[in-house]
Amino acid sequence: MTEDKTLTTASGIPVADNQNSLTAGERGPILMQDFYLMEKLAHFNRERIPERVVHAKGAAAFGTFTVTHDITRYTKAQLFSEVGKETQVLLRFSTVGGEQGSADAERDPRGFSMKFYTEEGNWDLVGNNTPVFFIRDPLKFPDLIHTQKRHPQTHLKDADAKWDFWSLSPEALHQVTILFSDRGTPKNHRHMDGFGSHTFSLINDRGERVWCKFHFKTMQGIENFTAEEATQIKGEDPDHATRDLFEAIDQGNYPKWRFCIQVMTEAQAAEYRESPFDLTKVWKHSEFPLIDVGILELNRNPQNFFAEVEQAAFSPSNVVPGISFSPDKVLQSRIMSYADAQRYRLGANYQQLPVNQPKCPVMHYQRDGAMAPGNNGGSGPNYEPNSHEDAPKQNSAYADPAWDLGNVKVDRYDHRKGNDDYTQAGDLYRLMKPDAQQRLVANIVESLSAAKPEIQMRQLCHFFRADPNYGRQVAEGLGIAIDPSMMPAAAQPIGV
Ligand code: HEM
Repeated sequence: MTEDKTLTTASGIPVADNQNSLTAGERGPILMQDFYLMEKLAHFNRERIPERVVHAKGAAAFGTFTVTHDITRYTKAQLFSEVGKETQVLLRFSTVGGEQGSADAERDPRGFSMKFYTEEGNWDLVGNNTPVFFIRDPLKFPDLIHTQKRHPQTHLKDADAKWDFWSLSPEALHQVTILFSDRGTPKNHRHMDGFGSHTFSLINDRGERVWCKFHFKTMQGIENFTAEEATQIKGEDPDHATRDLFEAIDQGNYPKWRFCIQVMTEAQAAEYRESPFDLTKVWKHSEFPLIDVGILELNRNPQNFFAEVEQAAFSPSNVVPGISFSPDKVLQSRIMSYADAQRYRLGANYQQLPVNQPKCPVMHYQRDGAMAPGNNGGSGPNYEPNSHEDAPKQNSAYADPAWDLGNVKVDRYDHRKGNDDYTQAGDLYRLMKPDAQQRLVANIVESLSAAKPEIQMRQLCHFFRADPNYGRQVAEGLGIAIDPSMMPAAAQPIGV
């Protein structure tokens, strides 16, 4: 017997004619009775949902995470419970500022969003390809993003806005230095590292906490475009990285990353020279070496982009027992922001969409809401406390250990006070070979030269404070003469 391939309406009713509308006479008009035509047109009108407010352009693939080293002394998270254990994952790469149709080769940080489908719920690690970020206070995030998007009047990308904000926000200098270096234009998604960026905590089965940072080291090797190559590929193939990822996996050339952690004890954190929770800073590998944990491999392309990539919802609030948060203010605010965005973008029951559904039992008392698929809790109670023996119950075995915050006061603290925004950006510049420094400076000059002179001067001071040569090179590139007698003073880290 051959499978019946009869076309149907969305309600499963067989369709007799999908080419000709129902009309009164050969020349029309169309009858209201043609509900199938109405259904097709009305559904088409509703095909678009809001794109992500940031990171709109992306590509994703499924894969496997395999534990290669034991870290159970740090965490009781079940996905790390034994060497050799495999967990299914989804990884979405993205650019930040562009729209869904924008070019993959833009100079921009790249998103690196992971969903681990563990037996104790989904763990989402929503990071970037950079270990740091532009800001350390989340109150500045919407303003930062406005400067990366389009001007309210011209609808163009705006150098003044970007550099105005950055020059008034020197905590951005470390990330700006990465962004304008070779790593600002990765060759594709496979040839770059990923970072959880924030400080998180790991909790072991004795209830002991350590602070931790997550790293993914590409096993394909880091490869970047020069600024010229990036410009060229934007014109030739704006989707080059999306294509590269799909084709590599399609051909069985599965990309892999080493998954590593850095660990800092609470005692080390208390003694640390700066805040270990400052997202604009790295922990030096010489002090906190990388510890190998496992291998991540991408080995399955999505079957349907909208269902499995556009509808995917990653959120830093999704942590599983054994992994938890830190006082990092930016992380704290992201815990709220993502689920809120997804309720707006996808609807109240977005966690029930197949790509977001955990691969473990889900038991709670939330009910109803738009588009509630499944049995919606069936005949079980929809309240707690209750006396139903079979109903879901809380389990204190999963409680995180208490956070000792000492005698802290809740206040709005000046995040720039006592913070050095220059040394690590300068260290990074000094680490680069002369040719890499030249490309960094050329990229900055190309962008900054389009900003107003007073903004250029303000930003120039930051480069000088990071390293006098960094400042001098950018000044030369901009054609700005610098009075050498000003140099030592300008090189001193001062607040703006
Ligand atoms: C996406 C907010 C900082 C990485 C998003 C989305 C929002 C958001 C609302 C869209 C979510 C969606 O519609 O599904 C914020 C806020 C931040 C912040 C309020 C700071 C206050 C960061 C940082 C990183 C990051 C520091 C990386 C370290 C990402 C990535 C995505 C994203 C990778 C795309 C997720 C995906 O692939 O679906 N962000 N973000 N964001 N953000 Fe952030």
